[in-house]
Amino acid sequence: MPDVSLSTAKPLSTRVDALVLGIRNEEDAGAFAADLNAVGFSWKKGALAVLPGGDQTKAHRVIAVGLADTSAPEDLRRAAAKGLKAAKGSATVAFALYPASSEDVGAVAEGALLAAYEYDRYKTTSKDSPKKLTSLTFLTALARRPDAIDALESARIVSVAVNRTRDWVNSPPGDLRPPDFAQQAKDAASATGVKVQVWDEVKLAKEKCGGILGVGQGSEAPPRLVKLTYKPAGAKVHLALVGKGITFDSGGLSIKSGGGMMTMKCDMAGAASVISATLAIAELGLPIAVTTFAAMAENMPSGTATRPGDVLTMRNGKTVEVLNTDAEGRLVLADGLSLAVEAKPDVIVDVATLTGACMVALGSRTSGVFSTSDDLLDTFPRLAKEVGESMWPLPLTEELMEAVTTSTIADIRQHNPKPYGGAIYAASFLRQFVGETDWAHLDIAGPSFNDGGAYDYTPAGGTGASVRTLVQFARSLS
Ligand code: BES
Ligand code: MN
Ligand code: ZN
Repeated sequence: MPDVSLSTAKPLSTRVDALVLGIRNEEDAGAFAADLNAVGFSWKKGALAVLPGGDQTKAHRVIAVGLADTSAPEDLRRAAAKGLKAAKGSATVAFALYPASSEDVGAVAEGALLAAYEYDRYKTTSKDSPKKLTSLTFLTALARRPDAIDALESARIVSVAVNRTRDWVNSPPGDLRPPDFAQQAKDAASATGVKVQVWDEVKLAKEKCGGILGVGQGSEAPPRLVKLTYKPAGAKVHLALVGKGITFDSGGLSIKSGGGMMTMKCDMAGAASVISATLAIAELGLPIAVTTFAAMAENMPSGTATRPGDVLTMRNGKTVEVLNTDAEGRLVLADGLSLAVEAKPDVIVDVATLTGACMVALGSRTSGVFSTSDDLLDTFPRLAKEVGESMWPLPLTEELMEAVTTSTIADIRQHNPKPYGGAIYAASFLRQFVGETDWAHLDIAGPSFNDGGAYDYTPAGGTGASVRTLVQFARSLS
């Protein structure tokens, strides 16, 4: 990531490769007004024009970005992203987008840092690639205010967390199997004060994690459970996070179609999100305790794989009749949630790329929220909106809560053969493993992976969706 700093310098006297200049009116355009008219600048929010710096500025390139008279934080994130992308090939970029508060300063920085993300680890054509971005300067009269300096640092920490989540999701699934993912989580946590424990397949068996083992047993790469513990002195609230970490979802013996598994490296996005969010919460020094469980397995078909018809015994002792091995996420989450309950937290939040049905209901950019608490059902969509994410409440219906217990041979039926309400059925299944603890479930199947082109500050591929909302939730508890 590029370095970030604040400065009270005047935009036109800042020496940079590119200056992103917010334009609310002709006055903001100053000496550039005539040039902007000449290139057809619309003077509206979202407008964009790229001009040579010329004699009026120390910047080589001026990127004019249209703004409304007043901007919400999300407008500023998007404006910064638009400017950053038009600055491609620049090493140093300055932003003059008139943040009116420290929150606005953070929004500009976050928009730029998230838009600057690139996943180029597997690209070999480096010699003709454009100059690397090295530094971002945010121009504001607030530059010396401690709250603005804090906001910049928070935006940096959160952006690192989102971008790390994207890296993990984008990693080719053959290079990020459960043991690799667990090791990388451990590496990322070193020097954050977060304690990491990794359970291998032997320990998972000893601890009776039948869901994680059942899903992982078809793969040559064994499953893992990663537990993170952040416990600052004096914490009064305890949050537990649980993430689905299927490093590749082939569907298992209930195998997916070729097209259906093309993006299934994304199926560990929930685990990547909760791990990254936990590390960010620790780096921000938020005064709450967090215990995080990431359930990692590779869902593969083989002679050792779980079969439709098999019964698994989960960590909490409940038995589950497996009917479709492609509904594997709920099986690994059952163990993760059971372990979370044992940690006696005040609230549990699980995050999972759980169902295609959730995308049918809400589209591909909105996560589903399910909860036993009306308060949490209300809180998550609101917090998501505050940070520029999109979540929407869905119900746990009586019909599907009852259907979950209709197995003729086990306690719980894993899969509903009726094709309606698939996201609700999956959430109702999870409900069986949270007991009386306050709980919210975020189905991020759509938003975690962008299979179209980049837009605003969202790249193609892994998006890091839910990390910012989880951090905001932790803030709301502290
Ligand atoms: N990982 C998938 C859900 C998914 C679909 C995530 C598309 C991201 C994009 C999950 O394990 C799955 O396969 N769910 C099945 C459940 C069904 C078998 C009840 C689904 O959604 O079709
Ligand atoms: Mn599946
Ligand atoms: Zn899956």
